[in-house]
Amino acid sequence: MKLSERVRYVGVNDFRMKLFESHWPVPEGISYNSYLVIDEKIALLDTVDAAFADEFIRNVKNELGDRKIDYLVINHMEPDHSALVSFIRNEYPECTVVANSKAAQMLEGYQGLTDNVHVVKEGETLQLGETSLQFFMIPMVHWPETMATWCSEEHTLFPGDAFGSYKAVPPCISDCKSNLFDEYKEEMIRYYASIVGKYGQPVQAALKKLGNLDIHRICSVHGPVWEKEIPEVVKLYDNLSQYKAGCGVCLAYGSMYGNTEKAAKAIASELEKRNIPYGIHNLTAEDYSYALRDVFKYDTLIVGSPTYNMEIFPPVRQFMEGVADRGVKNRKFAAFGSFTWAAASVKLLNDMAADAGFELLSEGISFKQGYAPEKFDAASLAEAVISAGK
Ligand SMILES: Cc1cc2nc3c(=O)[nH]c(=O)nc-3n(C[C@H](O)[C@H](O)[C@H](O)COP(=O)(O)O)c2cc1C
Ligand SMILES: [Fe+2]
Ligand SMILES: [Fe+2]
Repeated sequence: MKLSERVRYVGVNDFRMKLFESHWPVPEGISYNSYLVIDEKIALLDTVDAAFADEFIRNVKNELGDRKIDYLVINHMEPDHSALVSFIRNEYPECTVVANSKAAQMLEGYQGLTDNVHVVKEGETLQLGETSLQFFMIPMVHWPETMATWCSEEHTLFPGDAFGSYKAVPPCISDCKSNLFDEYKEEMIRYYASIVGKYGQPVQAALKKLGNLDIHRICSVHGPVWEKEIPEVVKLYDNLSQYKAGCGVCLAYGSMYGNTEKAAKAIASELEKRNIPYGIHNLTAEDYSYALRDVFKYDTLIVGSPTYNMEIFPPVRQFMEGVADRGVKNRKFAAFGSFTWAAASVKLLNDMAADAGFELLSEGISFKQGYAPEKFDAASLAEAVISAGK
């Protein structure tokens, strides 16, 4: 597919995979994007998942006919993009792999490939004719070898996973004909929260390094190509990587017998009465990446867990550990939950929140046995959210 005369899309959509990285649900699929830059010499930027070799090579040949690939640039060695490097080298034996030294080492480790590898350094340029590719290291976005490739003549940035999204792409992958940002935003944030979330500082460093480029097109390896909505996309990444969030509540809970759940619903209804934006997430019914997404979206986290063997209920603990693993900062927090004989969950949740540096909105609400409105002052939590926002 033509993005311009010189830049073509040759990636694929994956609707078969249920769990990306064997972990994150992708109910609307995911794309593995790969691109050609065509001049006197031809470069292929990244490959796709191993399951798509046939479709991938068909896409490449549709664009190139009998012409050959001269360079295969590896921006990122995670196998969803690098799995078919050896396959491409078999198809085009003359093709030189272009990679930085860390990626070259990984290429040897994964695929035993060491010959005809051209190792590039920060700022180095590769001439394809009139068109050039320049390489900028963006380590830990989100692997150490990740680099971005810049084509100045096309004002096009190939930044690996950065600015990527879950959700397969439409036939016209670019946002130039229709606004895709609003359509992809939620899945972009969920992708960021699940995959990149820990690496706020490296993302900030990458944004600074690439910030002076006159970018007219961002070709991420997942999700749409951004041409029209670049300011929105960059702003979103800037905010996410600084853990900046809007006013609102991520209300996440787990419940075995429905009591903590009833309390969660009571809180939701009090938030609604006060027009406080929120997302409610049952952590036993839904993958925790959806709640993590809302942790990145909203500035307040209210978490419910029954006491379970004097611990936090395990699905809730997994979520809270996910929040801690990502180094989420500057959030307000409150906890609640049911117990039967000795309460522990609310205190333990508060401890985890304090370790993360979150501001406690209240001491939390622990209630004994069954939920009843008179035992559980949901309105006080909603009021605490309002007071903290003032
Ligand atoms: C495996 C298991 C362990 C539990 N451990 C404790 C406990 O250590 N302390 C306690 O007070 N209640 C404990 N309980 C009781 C629950 O906290 C209680 O049933 C609570 O009301 C469940 O909330 P839910 O309806 O939201 O699931 C335990 C329950 C189960 C099933
Ligand atoms: Fe990756
Ligand atoms: Fe990826």
